[in-house]
Amino acid sequence: MQKHFLITGGAGFIGSHLVDSLLEQGSHVTVIDDLSTGRWENIARHESNPNFKILIASVEEERLMQEEIPRAHFVYHLASAVGVKLIIEKPVEIIQRIVRTTDFVVELCAKYRRPMLLTSTSEVYGKSERTPFREEDDVTLGASCKRRWAYAAAKLLDEFLALAHYYQSALPIYIVRLFNTVGPRQAAQYGMVLPRFADAALANRPVQVYGTGEQTRCFCSVFDVIKGLAAIRDSREAIGKVVNLGSNKEVRIVDLAKRVIELCGSSSKIEYVSYDDAYGTGFDDMQRRVPSTELAKKLIDWNPQYHLDDVILQVIEDRKSRDYMDFPKNS
Ligand SMILES: NC(=O)c1ccc[n+]([C@@H]2O[C@H](COP(=O)([O-])OP(=O)(O)OC[C@H]3O[C@@H](n4cnc5c(N)ncnc54)[C@H](O)[C@@H]3O)[C@@H](O)[C@H]2O)c1
Repeated sequence: MQKHFLITGGAGFIGSHLVDSLLEQGSHVTVIDDLSTGRWENIARHESNPNFKILIASVEEERLMQEEIPRAHFVYHLASAVGVKLIIEKPVEIIQRIVRTTDFVVELCAKYRRPMLLTSTSEVYGKSERTPFREEDDVTLGASCKRRWAYAAAKLLDEFLALAHYYQSALPIYIVRLFNTVGPRQAAQYGMVLPRFADAALANRPVQVYGTGEQTRCFCSVFDVIKGLAAIRDSREAIGKVVNLGSNKEVRIVDLAKRVIELCGSSSKIEYVSYDDAYGTGFDDMQRRVPSTELAKKLIDWNPQYHLDDVILQVIEDRKSRDYMDFPKNS
């Protein structure tokens, strides 16, 4: 029997790649996405596929969700506001969007006994200085007056809520903490570093590095992440667990900027911008954020395959070939 998947946030960056992969395997896919940060173009190619349905709507539309959740065998809940830039600009809307959306979806999954995978984030580790981050480590969030931590706190509340359904009624819940995921279709306008660097380098504008650039991050291809999301769904052992998915190869942000400039063949220079100028005063940032992938290896034998250079090149091609609303033209 063909499996039927419901993907909330399926018109977004990661969700749309998940749609491609599930349709390719012959599954039925329904997407619910309000296009708040997603793009129609991400899934437009599937519009005439009889195995695909998209509903442009909020997951908070109760009637719709009451119909769609029971039809699905499995729910991938990706719908969320994403990233620290948005939470600083629109804190009320973003906190509410993250928490309400998950509350709504998991409640209906519990009602109809549908397994659900929630995509959480490495942000929940907060300012912890441990390396690498293990799933059962304590988290160290900053003060509530430092607005960036609202994103982590809201996503952490999502995790608690989903796990509460697992503990209380044995609802099959899978939680994946994604670290920096990169690849084609990622939007730049919400502050994501790689498409932002690529856009600047392609336009020969200064590539803005926030802070000293000495901070490191680990970037993982969206194609590796999608394989992980599929394998976790098929792992009974992963039920009720939190699993990190991310690369553990660190790169300094300034080196990422240099590499993007190089691979674009650009004449851009690096411009350093203080966190205060980028995000307003009192912005906390972490020096390193490295996942332990031991649990992912143990549960699903997962290892990222893509090299960072390959991903950068894919992003550059994507930024060049698509008419992004957030892609400043080199006029
Ligand atoms: N990209 C990353 O590096 C990263 C890292 C950590 C976690 N994540 C998580 O992965 C998931 C997907 O992120 P992404 O990078 O693809 O971001 P994205 O913004 O491209 O995707 C999120 C999608 O959810 C949709 N959405 C938001 N609220 C909705 C609502 N109420 N109803 C219907 N649709 C709604 C948006 O329109 C968008 O298409 C998110 O849960 C995010 O927290 C991503």
